[in-house]
This record gives sequence, structure tokens and C-alpha cells, in this order.
Amino acid sequence: MPLVNMKEMLQHAYENGYAVGAFDLINHDFLEGILDAAEACSAPVILSLAESHFDYFDFEQLMPAVEKAARSASVPVAIHLDHGESLESAIKAINCGCNGVMVDASHTPLEDNIQMTRNVVEMAHGCGVPVEGELGYVPGVEGEDAERHPGKVSYTTTEEARQFVETTGIDFLAVSIGTVHGRMRGEPKLDLERLREINQALRLPLVIHGGTGLSDDQYRRLIENGVVKINYYTALADAAGAAIRDSVAATESNGYTQLTRGVRTAVSREAERCIRLWGSAGRAAEVLSHCTPWLPVEHLIIYNVNGLDDEGAKAMMAKGRDVLAGIPGVLEVATGSAVKTDAAYRYTWLVQFCHPAVIDSYRDHPDHVAFADQLFRPVAGERISIDYEWIV
Ligand code: 13P
Repeated sequence: MPLVNMKEMLQHAYENGYAVGAFDLINHDFLEGILDAAEACSAPVILSLAESHFDYFDFEQLMPAVEKAARSASVPVAIHLDHGESLESAIKAINCGCNGVMVDASHTPLEDNIQMTRNVVEMAHGCGVPVEGELGYVPGVEGEDAERHPGKVSYTTTEEARQFVETTGIDFLAVSIGTVHGRMRGEPKLDLERLREINQALRLPLVIHGGTGLSDDQYRRLIENGVVKINYYTALADAAGAAIRDSVAATESNGYTQLTRGVRTAVSREAERCIRLWGSAGRAAEVLSHCTPWLPVEHLIIYNVNGLDDEGAKAMMAKGRDVLAGIPGVLEVATGSAVKTDAAYRYTWLVQFCHPAVIDSYRDHPDHVAFADQLFRPVAGERISIDYEWIV
């Protein structure tokens, strides 16, 4: 059950002066290693999936496993889309189970970044899902050498940050103050004074990208100045790679399982080191009591049709499955017919929403309105419609 509301999770971190690790995962070894670390430390954790990594795994295939693992954890977990590339990516991520999203338009001019981020906020808030926006540019690529991607840091300014937050309505702000994605030579120089000023002006949970490679003291100073989410990937990937190298050296075998056996533990050790350093260890119980569990709503309709035979009803339902599944916040659309032919109601829609907010946004969504008005309501005579929340 401990998939929890991410906004409340990070608000708790903000109020209590610690940061939650947002660890990018690319496969089951990373998923298990990150959760092992969070469990070992009794810490809240964010499972992050970066769109820039979607070449390495099938997002839609991996998400059910991520969600199942999150729901089975004893510690509070959130699932986040990292560096989404479009509004469509954010909708897909929410409909696959993410309960926090970021669409990164930080490389575009301010007005375009504001417009894109505002569109994402409008959609995601209609699903109850919080949004991270980024302002200023953090160069580099996760998992690669920073000098191979030498883009210039563009620092976040307090004035633009204020405007960005006010006009977009984001829940968390990722700032650029000198970190770089990927492997760096030496320690990056951070503009902590800038961070302090942004934090004082906004009083909004702040996010750092490019978490790999900072000193213990730098992490401490980030957290003192409002950073509550630290994105971290390259050091996990390097720990995993080193474990594979050790296995290659230690065995004659070319077997995949022999060579990758140490990866889960290596990822877990590095994640655990960060969790302890960033102050989230031991916080699981208080975060759980502070956060609303993230549970779906079942939108149930049972109905009979007038003026359509069984084939016609099935065709109408097929169209509905197709159209309704694309509405933001819809996790699943299933249709059915009663097993017993004398049932009081012959057909059903079982639509699963990610959050109670979707009850309203789904009802008013133009695709739902068009389908319901043109294809469903004219033939659905008697019907019962109820939204259920899960009891766990
Ligand atoms: P690193 O790969 O530098 O740790 O950065 C990760 C990140 O910022 C993901 O968004």
C-alpha cells in the first residue's frame, strides 16, 4: 500500500529539513536495489523513470512491476516521470501509474517553458498529480561523462523563478545552480547564495538534478537551503558497472546471471549511502502518517442497451475502450457482459482512475463528453454509475 502522494511526501521533507532520493531506474536490478536501500534505512524514496532512458527499457512493460513493487514496500514510495519530453509523455506516464511528473522545457526560451509547463500542470492537477518544473539549464547527460556534453550552465534567477512558479502553478522547482548531469572531473562549484535567495523568495520544495559527484558538505548545504529531492543516477550506474567488472575478473563464466549477480547489491549500497547522508533514513513512519495513500478510484457503470444487438454493443464498447483509455488519469478501461443471461444488468464499464480528482476531469473531458453523448447515452437505457475508492 505505501504508494503515497508525492506532494505531501516532499512537503514533509521541506518542513523537516531533509531530502528524498529520486533514483533513476532502468531495470529490475535497479528497482530492487533502490527499494532494498529504502527498506534498510526505513526511508521514503522516489522511483524515477527518465524518458531519456526509454531506449534501454520498455516503459509501459516495466511500469506494472514498478507499481507493484512500490505498493508492496513497507516504506513510502512515489513514482516519478523524469525529464519527460512532451505533454503526451506526461499523460502516458500518469496513465501508466506515475504519481509525479516533470516535463523538461528548460532548454527552451522562458515563454515557451512557461507555456509547456502550464499545460502540463493543468492536465496533471486534473489527475491529482503534482508537477516539477525546471528553470535554468543543467547541462550533461545522466550516466555519461559531463565533458562529452559540454553545454553551458544557465543559472536560475530569483526573479524568473518567481514568475515561473506564479504563472505555471508547479509544485516543485528544479533549479540550476552549478550541478551537471553525469560524471564530472572534480567537484562542481555551486552557487549556494543564489539557492538561498531562491528558497527565501519562493518557499517551495526545490529539486537538484545532476546529484552525482557532490561532496558531503555540498549536499548538506543544498538541503539547508530548501532542496528536498535529489535526482541521482550516474553513480548508481557506475556502481552497477563496477560490480559487473568485478564479476568478469572473478569468474571464467560468460553467464549473464553470474556476471550481473552483484548489480542489485551495488545499486543498493550506493543508494543507501545517499539516503543516510541526505537525512531521510528513519523517516518512513512519520512520512506514512503524514501522507495520503495513493489509491485508485473504480468508476463502475452497469447498464442495459436499447436498440442495439450484442454485436452493436460490443462495437460501441470497443470504440469506448480506445477513446477513453487516452484521457488523462485513466489507468484502465475494461468492458464486460454478465455471465448469466438473466442478470438485471447485461453490460459493464470498469474504468480505473488514478485519483479522485479524475472523477470530474474525466466527466468534463471533450473525448468523454463526445463518446458519452454520441455513442453511449443514446443506447444506454437503465444504468447505475458509482465511483468507488479502494479499501485496503
Ligand atoms: P546524475 O546522473 O548526475 O546523478 O543526475 C541524475 C539526474 O539529474 C536525473 O534527472
